[in-house]
Parts: sequence; C-alpha cells; structure tokens
Amino acid sequence: MAKPILLVKSGGEAAVAEWQAHFAACAPQIEVRWWDDPAVAPEDVHYVLVWDPEPGRIARLPNLRVICGAGAGVDFITRDPDLPKHIPLTRMATEGAAQRMGEFVCWSALSLLRGARRIALQQVAKDFTYFDGMGLATQTTVGVMGLGHMGTQAATMLRALGFPVIGWSRTAKDIPGVEGFVGTEARDAFLARSHILVCLLPSTPETNGILSAPLLGKLPKGAGLVNVGRGAHQKIDDVIAALDSGQLSGAVLDVFETEPLPATHPVWNHPKVIVTPHIASLPTRRERAEHVARALAAFERGDPLRNLFDHDRGY
Ligand code: NAP
Ligand code: GLV
Repeated sequence: MAKPILLVKSGGEAAVAEWQAHFAACAPQIEVRWWDDPAVAPEDVHYVLVWDPEPGRIARLPNLRVICGAGAGVDFITRDPDLPKHIPLTRMATEGAAQRMGEFVCWSALSLLRGARRIALQQVAKDFTYFDGMGLATQTTVGVMGLGHMGTQAATMLRALGFPVIGWSRTAKDIPGVEGFVGTEARDAFLARSHILVCLLPSTPETNGILSAPLLGKLPKGAGLVNVGRGAHQKIDDVIAALDSGQLSGAVLDVFETEPLPATHPVWNHPKVIVTPHIASLPTRRERAEHVARALAAFERGDPLRNLFDHDRGY
C-alpha cells in the first residue's frame, strides 16, 4: 500500500532533505515531499506541514486529513480565505518551543533591567562610562499578556528569576505565584502594575494593534516592552513615540508587521530598542518532525488531536 504523503512548506525547498531524514527516523510510514513537487498528485496528499501557504492552495488538496502548522501561531495559515475549516489545524505547541520562549523572555526582561542595549552601544563606541540606576528583578513586576502554552512557561520562568509576575488572559488561570487578570475589564489594572510588559497573545481581530498609544500610556512611566507575539500587535510608530517621550525606557522587539524588517526602518538604529529577527522560539526541525509524527500517529489511531486551532475563538 502506498504511504500517506506529507507535503512540507517550511524552510524552503533546501530544507526538504533534512525534514525527510527526521521523518524517516520518527515516522517511516509517512512519505515526505516538497510542497511544490510536480510529481505529487493533489489527491494523494493526506497531510501538510506548512508556514505561510499560498491562499487557495490547501483547498485544492481533496483528500487532506490534517494541516500541521509549522509554528505555534497559525495566523500565516488562517489568513487564507479559502482555508477549509473542517480539516483539523494543529499548532506547533512543543515543550521545547515553550522552554525556548521562556528563556528568550527571561533574557529580554533581564536585558531591559540591566540596560543591555546601552551596554552594546557603549561597547561599539569603546565607551567605558559607568552608569547606575539599574533596578532589581525582585522590585520589577513583569506583566505577561497571554497565558497560553508560551505565556505560562515564560511567567513561571520569570518567577523563578525573582520577578513578581502578573498575567492577563481571556479566561481565568491558576499558575503558582502568578496573579491573574481576566478580560477587558481587568486590563487597565494589569497594565498599571506592569513595569515590563510582555506580549504573548495570538494575532486575532481583538488583539491586533493592541500595543498602541492608549495602551502604552497606561503603563507605569519608563516601563519596558517585549513583543514576542506578532508584528500585527504593535503600532510601531506609537512604540517609537513612547520610547522617545520616555513613557517607555526600552523595548525588545522580535516580530514586525513586515518581515524581514526593511533595512530603512528607523527602529533598527533606535538607541532604546533591541531588534531580534523573529527568533524568540524556533524549535529545531527534528523537534518539530517528532511533534508532528506523534500527532499524526495519534490521529491515525483515532485519538483526538491536541493543540488545535479553534476557528470560532480565532486562536
Ligand atoms: P495559546 O496557547 O493559544 O495562548 C494564547 C493566550 O492568549 C491564551 O492565554 C489566551 O487566553 C490569550 N488571549 C487570546 N485572546 C485574548 C484576548 N482577546 N484577551 C486576553 N487574552 C487573550 O498561544 P501560545 O502557544 O502561547 O502562543 C502565543 C503566540 O505567541 C502565538 O500565537 C504566536 O503569535 C506567538 N509566538 C511567537 C514566537 C516567536 O518566535 N516570536 C514563537 C511562538 C509563538 P485564554 O487562555 O483565556 O484562552
Ligand atoms: C513563531 O512565530 C511561531 O508562531 O511558532
């Protein structure tokens, strides 16, 4: 019997051999082929593993059973207006991805606390000027927006570093040591306490543009900002204005409305911004192949799929 075919569009055609090697080790019953392989007939495709597929393309696979998102956020897939909603769409919510995100958020919070951007600029200028005024983690409350797979891990790891941590989500959570704020009504109270604000929300119509002047104005003066959600969450001109006015003292931005961030964008050279190229949490291909292999094995046994995108909820 022919093996079920998994088409892969993540990392480009050059990454296909690596995907094939990883799947051969953990899911030899599946045949892995490049997304644009002309030898694959659309009706033979049972599974796809994708990031940013061309609109309409998935709808043209008549026997597709599962769509595996190559990332934890699947907005680059769900923006396809023709995406078939009856086919389950899984998110890349791996343990390793959450751990990596937790590490990145801790690094970001400590970088803001200890003036890492200023230190880097002084090093480039060979400037040994002493500066003080750096706060203590134990006196710096970090507010985490979004307490899902990533946000829960980040909040827990920040707690372990000594930061007081508060979180904001749509529904109530019970994370040891993390004070929760729920829903729109509680948002301003949450913001007023956040010396460092971390965005780990999914991109939805409710959350897009949330990091804009009205919200930034509700943070304590001189707060720090970490955006590891999506570029669509931030109005970058408002973020820059808040940095220039001193409302924000610094920012770590990993995601941007246009990626790659254009070379001419003013945020590249901003003295208070650390720019990272959307690398906060990038599991290895091996981790992702193993995660997909486990999910597809469960699916083929008839077990429920986990980490599914909910089309009604929007994330
Ligand atoms: P998740 O498990 O779906 O968690 C989303 C969280 O956001 C949940 O706690 C949810 O609340 C909350 N939320 C959603 N809409 C809200 C609203 N309107 N108001 C308040 N809270 C709201 O997602 P995840 O796996 O943690 O990932 C979060 C996002 O991180 C992804 O969607 C992606 O955009 C981003 N990400 C970025 C990178 C990177 O490298 N930069 C890597 C991975 C992921 P409930 O719990 O109450 O539902
Ligand atoms: C990366 O941005 C992801 O969503 O996994």
